[in-house]
Amino acid sequence: MDSFFITTPIYYVNAKPHLGHAYTTILADSMNRFHKLMGDDTFFLTGTDEHGDKIVQAAEKGGQTPREYVDDISSLFSDLWPNLQIENDDFIRTTEERHIKCVQGVLQKVYDKGDIYFGEYGGHYCFGCERFYTEKELEDGKCPQHETVPEYIAEKNYFFKMSKYQDWLIGHINANPDFIRPERYRNEVLSLLKSGALEDLCISRPKTRLEWGIELPFDKDFVTYVWFDALINYITALDYPKGDKFKQFWPSANHLVAKDILKPHAVFWPTMLKAAEIEPYQNLNVHGYWLIKDTKMSKSLGNVVSPLEMAQKYGVNAFRYFLMREMSFGNDSSFSEEALVGRLNADLANDLGNLFSRTLSMTHKYFDGLVPAQGAEDEVDCAIKSVGRASMAAFQQNFIDVKFSRGLEALWELVRGLNKYIDTTQPWALYKEENMSRLGTVMYVLLENMRKIAVHLWPVMPEASESMLAQLGIKFHPEKINLKGEVDVWGLLEHGTEVASKSNLFPRVEFEKTPPVEKKKKVAKAAKKTKEVKTEIPGIIEFPDFQKVEMKIGTVLSVVKHPDADKLLIVKLDTGEDEPRQVVAGLAEFFTPEQLEGKQVVVVVNLKPRKLRGEVSQGMILAVRNGDGMELLTVTAGVANGCQVS
Ligand code: MSP
Repeated sequence: MDSFFITTPIYYVNAKPHLGHAYTTILADSMNRFHKLMGDDTFFLTGTDEHGDKIVQAAEKGGQTPREYVDDISSLFSDLWPNLQIENDDFIRTTEERHIKCVQGVLQKVYDKGDIYFGEYGGHYCFGCERFYTEKELEDGKCPQHETVPEYIAEKNYFFKMSKYQDWLIGHINANPDFIRPERYRNEVLSLLKSGALEDLCISRPKTRLEWGIELPFDKDFVTYVWFDALINYITALDYPKGDKFKQFWPSANHLVAKDILKPHAVFWPTMLKAAEIEPYQNLNVHGYWLIKDTKMSKSLGNVVSPLEMAQKYGVNAFRYFLMREMSFGNDSSFSEEALVGRLNADLANDLGNLFSRTLSMTHKYFDGLVPAQGAEDEVDCAIKSVGRASMAAFQQNFIDVKFSRGLEALWELVRGLNKYIDTTQPWALYKEENMSRLGTVMYVLLENMRKIAVHLWPVMPEASESMLAQLGIKFHPEKINLKGEVDVWGLLEHGTEVASKSNLFPRVEFEKTPPVEKKKKVAKAAKKTKEVKTEIPGIIEFPDFQKVEMKIGTVLSVVKHPDADKLLIVKLDTGEDEPRQVVAGLAEFFTPEQLEGKQVVVVVNLKPRKLRGEVSQGMILAVRNGDGMELLTVTAGVANGCQVS
């Protein structure tokens, strides 16, 4: 059994958890769950970074001692994670005794080796980053992260001979292409190293300036520089040096961080490990920043997104899905509720939700809710199974390669493929023809693929995945899953299993910009205005009247000429419901059945059904008169059937 060790940065406790912290931790949780399903023995670590100037300043501001302060904020992080369905194996705090001991052990080892020396240093110190910057690294004399002018500090301190390991590090990065990924960050680090800018690292602070830190084991007048202290958390938690966990998990260490802390992780940390004679970690995975309307999140701009609020408003699973699907790993991404709602409705409510609700309700209608036996496979069944294999293999490879967004995109090829498969195979027609053996195969192909999709989604949406599986009559046990095997194995869903009759996993949501109270006032105001207008211009309707009309996108499945009326066509449409919808439309003069088949059109779906020359019509297809001809109202890009027109 392989091992997998995944870590997040340990977060500073000078601010409450926000979207950025939640993203990294959700991603780490997802990677952890994915590797679990791939059969690895996993260990997932997160925690808080509690020493340093910043913490002392924040505590003072709130009138607390550093100890009281760190206890309060650290628990905001540890309490938040279960609410986002994050299941870490350990939560480390740098103020814990186990960590202090470990840091002092590493320091002593490196000191005894002769890689730490005492010297004087003057440099540009950014309190935000808790590090010295070289002239070269400053932008217009300012810290590139915080855009503030650093303070010039000169004092006697201890230094780690980091420059000594520059060539070794370049060699290691060159020999291990995946050591830092994606490639742009690897290149960034290589160019930094090759510019020869690597200096020795100041790793102490005199107690006269800062007391809140880990005392150097070889000089009680100094505390350890917060980064030298913090990075060691990754091995403290594995009980370095003697722990079994260290032996088992360290060789597979995967760090997950954002680009803001690339240098400490890509340069300080590997050289520290080398000096302490510890093998380098396996991978440093670096993601971009979440921006709000292309700007950084910041308290002063008032645009900080609360992850808990988002999860409560839209559901934890939808929130997790959005973050992982929207951000292309390594690049920055913009967060907006509008985009979240868009994805939720399109990918989850329409594509995935519809697939589940249609298939489950058909299983009830045609097979009393029991999974039918699969008979012989047709070409169309083989085709969708091969789409499934390709889509699952791509999902897995992309997750291994930390390309999460692409992985989900690949899985949706199958989700959308299955919706199309329903349109093509037309289970309702098979039922009408009483072709139960063929119908059994079609329903089995759908249900077994849905099981596979649900299993693959567990890393991203744990609760939703378990609910999907429960709807398919399966109790989920992660240790029983062999995700790799899912690509090729067929038929694990047992025939005769009872499935749920309904599925409403991801109800559609409307995007609301204004808070409820404000909104009510506005609606009342708008209504008043409309009334006024109504008295002035005859024929104007009120907005609520317009809202009564429900329009959906549908694909034309089949068309036949009305037997008793030359101008009418009988059109069967897939409007995302369990069964096709029949509309009798006055289009025969303008279109042949072949011209209409396969077209996506706009259908009014809540018109009272009526009979037109003996044939029931359930709605209306929207079209425009164009001289002597007629044009259909359609969409510029393919969308899922059943999408609301608004
Ligand atoms: N304490 C150090 C890390 C020490 S690790 C040995 C630290 N803490 S932090 O609280 O500032 O966290 C930084 C991390 O939070 C980023 O690397 C990233 O994981 C996450 N994010 C914070 N803001 C973010 C965004 N706006 N977008 C994405 N993630 C970001 O640095």
